[in-house]
Amino acid sequence: MSFPKEFLWGGATAANQCEGGWNVDGKGASTSDHLTGGTHTSPRRFTKVIEPNTYYPSHEAVDMYGHYKEDIKLFAEMGFKIYRMSINWTRIYPIGDEAEPNQKGVQYYREIFEELKKYNIEPLVTISHYEMPYGLTEKYNGWADRRVIDFYLNYCKTIFTEYKDLVKYWLTFNEINISLHSFGGYMGLGIMPKEDGPMMLFGKKETREEANIRFQALHHQFVASAKAVKLGHEINPNFMIGCMIAGSAAYPYSCNPNDVIEAQHRMQQANFLCGDVQVRGAYPHFAKRLFEEYGVELKMEPTDEQTLLEGKVDFYSFSYYMSGCASTDPELTKSAGNMMMGVSNPYLKASDWGWQIDPQGLRYYLNEIYGRYQVPLMVVENGLGANDVITEDGKIHDDYRIDYLREHIKQMDEAIKDGVDLIGYTMWGCIDLVSASTGEMKKRYGFIYVDKDNDGNGTMNRMKKDSFDWYKKVIDTNGNNLD
Ligand code: BG6
Repeated sequence: MSFPKEFLWGGATAANQCEGGWNVDGKGASTSDHLTGGTHTSPRRFTKVIEPNTYYPSHEAVDMYGHYKEDIKLFAEMGFKIYRMSINWTRIYPIGDEAEPNQKGVQYYREIFEELKKYNIEPLVTISHYEMPYGLTEKYNGWADRRVIDFYLNYCKTIFTEYKDLVKYWLTFNEINISLHSFGGYMGLGIMPKEDGPMMLFGKKETREEANIRFQALHHQFVASAKAVKLGHEINPNFMIGCMIAGSAAYPYSCNPNDVIEAQHRMQQANFLCGDVQVRGAYPHFAKRLFEEYGVELKMEPTDEQTLLEGKVDFYSFSYYMSGCASTDPELTKSAGNMMMGVSNPYLKASDWGWQIDPQGLRYYLNEIYGRYQVPLMVVENGLGANDVITEDGKIHDDYRIDYLREHIKQMDEAIKDGVDLIGYTMWGCIDLVSASTGEMKKRYGFIYVDKDNDGNGTMNRMKKDSFDWYKKVIDTNGNNLD
C-alpha cells in the first residue's frame, strides 16, 4: 500500500448528530433542533415551535456531551490520528448575534480538545455542520441576510482565538454544495421554511424568488468562508483551513452525447461550482449560464470578488458515499440518495437505504478533483449506513461494513498511486449517531454501537463492533493489512 507515513486515519462526527444536551449550560436552539425524527420512507418534519410530545433526535442524540471522555478513549484505542468533529455554534453563541460568547460552551470544547491532545489525536473541526443558531433563522432568515456573515466571523474569531494552540485543521462549512439543491435552504442556509411540515429531500418545487434567495445566501457563505480563511491565517499562520464538499461522481448513463453533456453539467453544478469558488477564489465560467437557467441575479458587493480571491482554502475535503448516473431519458428510474440523486447504475449494488455503492467512484473523484485543483485532499466522510443486529453471542458482526470500507480504502490507495496528494481519511459516524437525512438511529455507521433506538429508548451503553478491531489493525499497519 502507498499511504504516506503521516497519513491521517480517523473518524468523523457532527455535534448536532451526536452531542445532545441541546439546551444545557447556556446552549441555544440550533436549526437542527427543530427537526423531528423520520424514517427511510417518512421524511423528518420541521416545526417552528418545539412541540411537547414530539421526538427531536438531536436533543439527546447519543449524549456525547456526557460521554465524551469514554468515546475519545475508544477512538484512541483504535489508534485515531485525527478526529473530525463540529462545534455547535449555539454553544458558543446561543442566539447568534450576541457580542460575547457563552463561556460554558467555550470551556466545553476546550476540554474536548485537551482530552484529544492527551491521546495525540489531531482535531479537525467543522465550524458549521448542518447547524446554526435558530435565532439567526428567526431574526434574519439565516444566510439570506448579509449581516449573518459578521455573526459567523465573530463566532470564528472566538473559536480561532480560544483554540489557536489546540486545533490546526478547520473546515468552514459542511457540504456547502447541498445548498445548490432546494432542500439545502434550511439545512445548509438556515432559511426559514414557509410553514411547518415535511423536509422533502427531492422533488420540492421552488419559485424563482426562492431560488434567488438561496443562491444569494450561498454567496454570503462563500464570502464568509473566504473571510474566515483570511482571519484564521492572521490568528495563526499554521492553520490549515479547508472547504468541505458533498462529493458526487456523476457518470453518463450511456455514450449518447446527450448523457455525456448531462453528466458534465452535473459535475460542474454539483461539485465544481463550490469547489472553484473556495479553492480557486472565483466563480467558474459556467456559473453565469447556470444562474440564468435558475433566473438568479446575484447581488455582489464591489469588494466580494477580491475577498473570494484572498480567502482561498488550504485544502479540499469532501464526503463520498456513492455515485450516480446522468441521463436525459425521463423514463429511467431515479435511485434514492440524500445529497446526490442520479439514475441507477446497473453495475452497482445499493445499501439498504438505496445509496449505490461504488468504491471505484472514489478513485475517479479523487483524480478529477486533484487534477483540477492540485491542493491536498482529505476524505472526511465515507461509510455504510446499515441496520446492525446484535447476535446471540451478544456481538455485532458487521462484515458488510468492513467490506465497504476495505474496498474504498483500496481505491484511495490506487488514487495515491495515480499521484493524488491524499492526506487523510475520517470514516463517517465512527460512533453510531443520528442520521442527518432520516433522523433515525437505525441507520448506523459506527465502529462503536450505541444502545439507543429510533424512538429514543436505550441505555446509551457503548459496545465495540467487529469493525472496531478491524479498523484498529488498518491504522496500526498504515493501511497495509486490510484483511
Ligand atoms: C453527509 C452529512 O451528507 O452524510 C452527514 O455531512 C450525514 O451529516 C452523512 O450524516 C450520512 O448521511 P445520513 O443521512 O445517512 O446520516
